[in-house]
Amino acid sequence: MSAGGRIRVSNPARVHARTAEAAEAAVLDVLRGGWWVGGPVVSRVEAALAGVVGCAHGVGMASGTAALQAILSALGVGPGDDVIVPAVSFVASATAVLRTGARPVLVDVQSGAPMLDPSAVAAALTPRVRAVVVVSLFGNRVAPLELPDSVWLVDDAAQAMGRTGSYGDGVAQAFSFYPTKVLPASGDGGLVTTNDPELAARVRDLGRHGRMSDGRYGAVSEATPGNNRLDAVQAALLEARLPDLQARVAWRRRLLKRYRHHLPELVVPHDEGSNVAVVAAVHPDRDALRAALGRRGIDTGCYYPHPLTQEPVLAGARVPHPVPNAERFCATCLALPCHIGLTDADVDHVSAQVREVLA
Ligand SMILES: Cc1ncc(COP(=O)(O)O)c(C=O)c1O
Repeated sequence: MSAGGRIRVSNPARVHARTAEAAEAAVLDVLRGGWWVGGPVVSRVEAALAGVVGCAHGVGMASGTAALQAILSALGVGPGDDVIVPAVSFVASATAVLRTGARPVLVDVQSGAPMLDPSAVAAALTPRVRAVVVVSLFGNRVAPLELPDSVWLVDDAAQAMGRTGSYGDGVAQAFSFYPTKVLPASGDGGLVTTNDPELAARVRDLGRHGRMSDGRYGAVSEATPGNNRLDAVQAALLEARLPDLQARVAWRRRLLKRYRHHLPELVVPHDEGSNVAVVAAVHPDRDALRAALGRRGIDTGCYYPHPLTQEPVLAGARVPHPVPNAERFCATCLALPCHIGLTDADVDHVSAQVREVLA
C-alpha cells in the first residue's frame, strides 16, 4: 500500500526510486556539462528508443502531441484534408490533427474494446481523407486496417512505449513520456519513430525551426516549423530509466492478470504484447463505484469521461456516423490502480473492495 494508506492509480515517484541514483547522476552530468538542448544524450536516447520500437530512426520531441502533429505535417497533411481518429482517446489525438489545419473525422470503437473499429473506418473514408490516426489505447495493438494507397496510417503510440510486438502498422509512431506513462520523463517529452529516413528528417526539421544544413530556415512542408525539441535533462532521465522498463512492464502484466482473475467481467482484457499502460474496468454505475472506492482509500482514474465527439474543442470535427460504443465506454470506464509500488496483496484488496461495493 502507498504511503499515507491510500492506494494510488499511478506513482511516478516509485518509478523514479527504482533508478534514482543513475537518473540523478545523469541529470547532474547534463547540468554540469552545459549542453542542455540537443547533444549526445539526446542522440543516444533517440537511437536507444528507436531500437526498443524496432525502427531505424528516432526523433526526440517536446511532447507526444508535438510528435503526432509533426508526423502529420511532415506527411503533408494540412488544410482541406480529413484525418480519421477514434472517438475514444486523449483529446490530443484529435487536436494534433486540428493544429495541422486538417479536420478530424471521429469514428466509433469496437463494442467490447475501446479500440478503433475497422468497419467504422471503412464507412468514413472519402476522397478528402489523407490519414488515419490509430491509437494504441492502454498499450494495446490496433486491429489491422485496409486503406487505399492514398491514405497514410499513423500510430498514436503515446501510451505504448514498452509494448512488445507491433503497434498499428503505421508509417510512423508518436510516443509520449508524460510522467504517468510506463516510461516517464520528469516533465514533458515525446518521440517519433519511423523507418523512413526522409520522414524522420522532415519531422526533425519541423521541430527545430526548419533549420537547413546551410544554416538558413526553410519550409519543410506547408506547416510553419517551430521549436518542439526533447531537452537533454529529460533525455538523460529517459536513458537512465530505460533499463528498468521491461521489468516494470512485466509487473504491470502480472497485476493485470490478477485483476482479471478476480474481476473477469469488469476488467478490460489486453493483448499479450500490451505494456498495460492502464488497467481499465467498466461498470454501469462507474461514478458511484469510484466514489465508494475513494471513501475506502482507493483512488481510481477516469481518463475519458466523454467521447471526443462531445469535446467543445472538437466541435468542428466531422462525425459521419453515431458512436454508441464510444459513448458507452466513456460513461462506464474507470482506471484501477496499477504501478510498480503495488503488491499482489494490494490487487487482492482493491478487487475485494470492488466486490464489496458492488455486492
Ligand atoms: C493517446 C494519447 N495521445 C496523445 C497524447 C499526448 O501526449 P503528451 O501529453 O505528451 O502531449 C497522450 C498523452 O496522454 C495520449 O495518451
